Amino acid sequence: MKNTITMIHNVTGKTYEFNILDATRGPNAVDISSFYSETGMFTYDNGFTSTASCKSDITFIDGAKGELRYRGIEIKKLANEHTFLETCYLLLNSELPNETELKEFDLELRHRSLIHENLRHLFAAFPASAHPMATLTAAAAALSTFYYDHLEISDESGYQEMARRIIAKIPTVAAFAYRHSIGAPFIHPDIDRGYTENFLYMLRAYPGGKMHRGMEGEEKIKEIEIKALDTIFTLHADHEQNASTTTVRGVASTGAHPYVAISAGISALWGRAHGGANESVILQLEMIGSVENVDKYIAKAKDPNDSFRLMGFGHRVYKNFDPRAKVLKELQDQLKSELNLDSHLMEIAAKIEEIALNDEYFISRKLYPNIDFYSGVILTALGIQKSMFTPVFVIGRTAGWITQWIEFKKDTSMKIARPRQLYTGK
Ligand code: CMC
Repeated sequence: MKNTITMIHNVTGKTYEFNILDATRGPNAVDISSFYSETGMFTYDNGFTSTASCKSDITFIDGAKGELRYRGIEIKKLANEHTFLETCYLLLNSELPNETELKEFDLELRHRSLIHENLRHLFAAFPASAHPMATLTAAAAALSTFYYDHLEISDESGYQEMARRIIAKIPTVAAFAYRHSIGAPFIHPDIDRGYTENFLYMLRAYPGGKMHRGMEGEEKIKEIEIKALDTIFTLHADHEQNASTTTVRGVASTGAHPYVAISAGISALWGRAHGGANESVILQLEMIGSVENVDKYIAKAKDPNDSFRLMGFGHRVYKNFDPRAKVLKELQDQLKSELNLDSHLMEIAAKIEEIALNDEYFISRKLYPNIDFYSGVILTALGIQKSMFTPVFVIGRTAGWITQWIEFKKDTSMKIARPRQLYTGK
């Protein structure tokens, strides 16, 4: 039997045959690249709900089962048994690192975490009220001016250096954007601290490498805080062809600098339908204000004439549960006794979750809490400001974006991203 699909034009009676491409996991795809030349028509798929834009062996999602794997390894295993740095290495190299490889990778990132002194001046150009996501897009694009040679790379060591550089520097740039927004002096990364701890350090420290003093003395960064943030980074590290990754690949397809592609990815992530949802969830919980008001807002979310949506609910791909949300919910429960989680906001969130999971509107549309529903409460407990929630997402996702950029560059069959349109004008 031929591995093809036949289409019949019901007006002309003509038949067309298209090849089916086999996936190693998940749905196969029909190769419609010759559709226009054969039929004279375009295909129409608003929001790309049925369109695979590339072949990829990085991340796999089964939305119906609630399954997510990076390079074949389940997200829960990575989150519980491995670190974010191991996950970055896995994404970039297809294998988890051994002890020596991890040590080398860790050291290299520590050394590369500094940013060029000139880049510091960029922050001064922005008002203190600038959202850190806006500053971050500018700073990521500005990095391309310091590493212009990355525009021409075409070998593995060039790709790896370019990737390690951006993964190492993005937390520093994000922390600087934050410090600028509160008018605090910049804190440079500390070579003695690991990746995730360093980010918390750059957000919290006083000049001279000192930490805040409480009545009990210096308030050190707790291991549990580092583990919680590290898990959040891992859960965000990649998510196959989401809106921001598709943006990164689209920019890559034009031959632009990789860091400008990352900057475009950051812009795409900022919106509240995507990564910006983590900030919006907490703003929404604060707006709802109390458990008594939840019913009113659930009714608004269900009203077809009201644009209000429950932030942190729903997903294009997950139609059963978001496995990242499951890990975070468990983490939230573990952290309850150790960190100061906002019990008032958690109460409102729990009520929303309880009502929505039993309500016909949400059940029939397969709307479940996504990762952003739970991350905000944990990030708040880590002392991270709301405006920094989406930058935290950026730090995790940079590993995925750059891995996808490299995959795109290595695939010699890839073309410039240039969709068609169904013209409806005069
Ligand atoms: N609250 C209320 N109704 C919703 C929601 C929601 N959060 N999400 C979807 N719906 C409804 C929507 O109104 C529509 O109803 P109807 O069929 O009656 O018109 C139906 O569910 C399908 O929605 P859609 O907009 O066609 O679904 P989509 O796949 O295009 O959008 C989404 C996915 C994530 C953009 C959307 O669910 C949403 O806006 N959620 C809130 C924002 C959010 O939490 N985003 C974070 C996503 S996870 C992090 C990430 O990876 O970016």
